[in-house]
Amino acid sequence: MQTPVVSGSRFVRMYFKGLMARAECIAAPTQTPSSHGYATSSSMSIAQTSSRWVTTIAAPTIRRGMDGNAGAVRQLSAKASCSTLSSTSAIVGVEQQGSESHGWNKRNHLCSGSTPFFYAQQQRSMSTSGAAKKGLVPVEEARRFMVDCLVNSKTPLAHAKQQADLLVEADYRGHFSHGMNRLEMYINDLHKNACNGEAVPSVLNETPATAWVDGNNGLGAVVGNFCMDLAIRKAKEVGVGWVCAKRSNHYGIAGWYTLRAMNAGCIGMSMTNTSPLASPTRSKEAALGTNPISVGAPGKDGDGFVLDMATTAVAVGKIEMQRRKNEPIPVGWAQGPDGHPTTDASVAFETACLMPLGGTELTSGYKGYGLGAMVEVFCGVLAGANYATKIRKWTHAGADSEADLGQCFVAINPACFAPGFEGRLSDLTSILRNMPMTDPNHPVLVAGDPELHHMAMVDREGGLAYHVNQIKTCTELSERLGVKPIAVI
Ligand SMILES: NC(=O)c1ccc[n+]([C@@H]2O[C@H](COP(=O)([O-])OP(=O)(O)OC[C@H]3O[C@@H](n4cnc5c(N)ncnc54)[C@H](O)[C@@H]3O)[C@@H](O)[C@H]2O)c1
Repeated sequence: MQTPVVSGSRFVRMYFKGLMARAECIAAPTQTPSSHGYATSSSMSIAQTSSRWVTTIAAPTIRRGMDGNAGAVRQLSAKASCSTLSSTSAIVGVEQQGSESHGWNKRNHLCSGSTPFFYAQQQRSMSTSGAAKKGLVPVEEARRFMVDCLVNSKTPLAHAKQQADLLVEADYRGHFSHGMNRLEMYINDLHKNACNGEAVPSVLNETPATAWVDGNNGLGAVVGNFCMDLAIRKAKEVGVGWVCAKRSNHYGIAGWYTLRAMNAGCIGMSMTNTSPLASPTRSKEAALGTNPISVGAPGKDGDGFVLDMATTAVAVGKIEMQRRKNEPIPVGWAQGPDGHPTTDASVAFETACLMPLGGTELTSGYKGYGLGAMVEVFCGVLAGANYATKIRKWTHAGADSEADLGQCFVAINPACFAPGFEGRLSDLTSILRNMPMTDPNHPVLVAGDPELHHMAMVDREGGLAYHVNQIKTCTELSERLGVKPIAVI
């Protein structure tokens, strides 16, 4: 049986590298984008392969820049100056480079920092426009800190690295709610023995295409990586691998696992149930978790589709972030204790009753409710794990009992279907990205694009822009665990 060489991050980094390289060829910016280079075995292979890939992509891009779009060089030179502004402008600056590199040459909005796209990026990020409110931490330093904290919390180094890789990737992709922000909760669970950092998953039942796994109450990343790698092996052998796990823990960003499948040339799918936080349509009490779904499909030359979403209007971490920043939440994210929508992040956090994707019944929230329940079918129910209201509450202080979460990992080998999947996938993303815009300032994106823009921004800034309150939490954690404090630049 062939062991797949996969990582959760290689695919997007290759794509990102190409994106930046293509922008460089056209715009010739002064700064060469660098890999954050955190020292995982996977990142070593990225470093080895990505430069070859970049060379391949760069040549035709130069031709397009000079022959196919005579205005591109001039346009980008002007835009490049925007990207040297503040961190907030950097988001915009990188976006514009990406637009040219993908032929998204209808994007002329890139010096305007107040667009809804920009607003969405701010919502996503713990970083703020005020320099005093953020602390820039190199990606490798964030990872070092996470590993140290986990190792000092009864977790073997190999498992600590897997968990840290996942958390760092979440921050790198702009999902700050599921990166460093989650570390303290994991640590608390480990110290309370609600989760076993040493546990290794085991296979309970297996067919050529399926496996039922016992996570043995191990760390979510350890269980998830094990299951997705198993699914990929099965997909390579028989076309499809479908693996369900019981007795798992919080597994972070669902997209981590689909990226792992994409790196192996497969279509990936992953879901998990979570502690009850969302009300079924017509109820004012939570019965389902935020139950995320991710589907990832590889395109050509590192392009791809990476849908990674909670089945609630937002992930609860987004509310935590607004609360941490003392900022309100939009209407439709969460209910107050009376069952009506609230904009107060603290009230929403205390009430812990999110709205399903779609919001109220009037705005089709029952569809999000249906998706959340579907996740339970494939996770808690199929895996024989806890589900819905049977799942424990998870608090910042750590839980007193095992979570017994159910999770689902699917890999599909496109080579078993119509030839040329990757080319058609890239054609699809290209069609979508180039559709006429409702507003010329707001380009059409496909799932995964916002994360790529965030990764580009992190590389340009040289680190992850954590909110000052997150840095404070890290400092407290280092004192508590006796690890070297996190270094902010
Ligand atoms: N482990 C857990 O218990 C758990 C629970 C909930 C969420 N999560 C994770 O939290 C993260 C955030 O979830 P979320 O629902 O808040 O994500 P989100 O709303 O930020 O993004 C959802 C998806 O929409 C895409 N997207 C965003 N803007 C777009 C646009 N304009 N056009 C096209 N596509 C666009 C993104 O690329 C992403 O794939 C995810 O990684 C998710 O897996 C984990």
